[in-house]
Amino acid sequence: MSKGKLEKFKEITAFRNTLELTDFQEEESQKPKGRWHSDIFENDNPIVLELACGKGAYTVELARRYPDKNFVGVDIKGDRIWKGAKQAVTEGLSNVCFLRIYIDHLDEYFASNEVDDIWITFPDPYPRYSDRNNRLSGPKFLKIYQRVLKSDGTIHFKTDSDDLFSFTKESLAKSDCKVHDVVENIYQECPDNKLLTIQTHYEAHYLQEGRSISFIKFSLPNVDISWELD
Ligand SMILES: C[S@@+](CC[C@H](N)C(=O)[O-])C[C@H]1O[C@@H](n2cnc3c(N)ncnc32)[C@H](O)[C@@H]1O
Repeated sequence: MSKGKLEKFKEITAFRNTLELTDFQEEESQKPKGRWHSDIFENDNPIVLELACGKGAYTVELARRYPDKNFVGVDIKGDRIWKGAKQAVTEGLSNVCFLRIYIDHLDEYFASNEVDDIWITFPDPYPRYSDRNNRLSGPKFLKIYQRVLKSDGTIHFKTDSDDLFSFTKESLAKSDCKVHDVVENIYQECPDNKLLTIQTHYEAHYLQEGRSISFIKFSLPNVDISWELD
């Protein structure tokens, strides 16, 4: 492991805006589930998650733009989260938090109806068929989002992967989810959209490679997601 990574891991444990799965191994009840408003943000403002946040580009930029909302970046990679967490500390953004956990366990950290909105930014496409259960828009994850998201909450999903985008649309159709917006190519169809053109670290790379970026916005109000991938 590089020295840079080790230093980031050490530094991140000291950041007050970052919670790590290892913090809760001794005492399950200390997990912040149901306590985000009262104990973490100490306000009643809406809570917005960025899942697979990496360096937290959306978390930090949305927090700057919307001081009346709370933002939580979620990813398992601490050295990536470090960048966004450090930025938020440096700028004194009190409406930002990072959570280093597997998204597979999101409902152990958020209570039912505790989350108002979700962004999923450039999740790994997992192209191999055997890895399909790890795709963040498959039924396993939709069920988890449904457990924490308010019934009128929306999910915003951005990807450069055509295969993952097709898989996502199929997965939403199978689950009877409500689709609010579909943009096949953001920078061609709506280059002036201030929300959709916030660029993440990976997105900047993909754009340099000439890839197109797709977006879909959907919600999961009382839909039945009991199906599983073949
Ligand atoms: C391709 S990167 C994108 C990072 C960032 N959103 C960006 O666009 O720059 C995908 C991220 O998803 C995270 N990730 C994938 N599956 C995950 C899971 N099940 N739980 C937590 N993080 C996950 C990885 O650690 C990685 O940082």
